[in-house]
Amino acid sequence: MSEWTRHDLLDLKELSKEEIEMVLQTAKSFKEVSARDVKKVPALRGKTVAMLFFEPSTRTRVSFELAAKRLSADTISIAISNSSLNKGETIIDTAKNIEAMNVDLLVVRHSCAGVPHILAENVGSSIINAGDGCRSHPTQALLDLFTIKEKLGKIEGLNVAIIGDILHSRVARSNIWGLKKLGANVTVCGPSTLMPVGIERMGVNVSYNVNDVIKTADVLMLLRLQMERQKDKFLPSIREYAKSFGINSSKLKDAKKDLVIMHPGPTNRGVELSAEIADGKYSVILDQVTNGLAIRMAVLYLLLGTKEQAPVSG
Ligand code: CP
Repeated sequence: MSEWTRHDLLDLKELSKEEIEMVLQTAKSFKEVSARDVKKVPALRGKTVAMLFFEPSTRTRVSFELAAKRLSADTISIAISNSSLNKGETIIDTAKNIEAMNVDLLVVRHSCAGVPHILAENVGSSIINAGDGCRSHPTQALLDLFTIKEKLGKIEGLNVAIIGDILHSRVARSNIWGLKKLGANVTVCGPSTLMPVGIERMGVNVSYNVNDVIKTADVLMLLRLQMERQKDKFLPSIREYAKSFGINSSKLKDAKKDLVIMHPGPTNRGVELSAEIADGKYSVILDQVTNGLAIRMAVLYLLLGTKEQAPVSG
């Protein structure tokens, strides 16, 4: 594949293996830009990127904003609580009004699955899904793929275990789509009450025993308990969950020596992982954040850059 043709980035489900690899390759060039003294290239000079975050975010929002700035694009952040959405304007009308000011791309996060897709059908600006409900978080999965490849040199054939609240996790879904396309063996592991019915149809193994999956795993991808999305009582207690599924050093005694432990953040120390694991030798949590910036630069560049603009010319 030699050319990027997509106008939006909504899901990893729709991307081919070649498209995913193209993002990872482009991100590799952009990672070097952020290590320079002058962390800026003119690739998107004259373009405007707007952030529409209807849900809290630290990593994704800061990362997209920095990525756009490092590519020399102008950025605006819509303060949702102070916007005319509070006066009854629809989200589509809000997006159309932003587009009317010649904004080139909207980065959208929303608690309802499908909102970025609806906006993509209704506005001409490019849309990036920065997380929609329990459905999809494509740039998170891309940065996770990038990090695995960086740490272990490949993705094909690796045993990746995704552990935790699979039911409510857009990170799990996006990673399953991406990891399967790149040839990994994926196991999902968590309490039965937090396991989606029919998840096997996504081509994954299912386990309810974390000690079993640790023995063969190359990568453990830990997920936060999504309490804000749990409308029913899915667990006897957080303490019980931490005891059965939380990762600590005693659970890792039979783990592979070069195990990689990932977490998309925000982490709940003492719940899905202990502090010593979060800060320990297996953890690549902050590398994921660093790589997220390179991935978002790559995605913005591929969606908005023109052929004449070299990706990393200074
Ligand atoms: N991983 C992630 O999406 O983090 P934020 O919610 O802080 O953006």
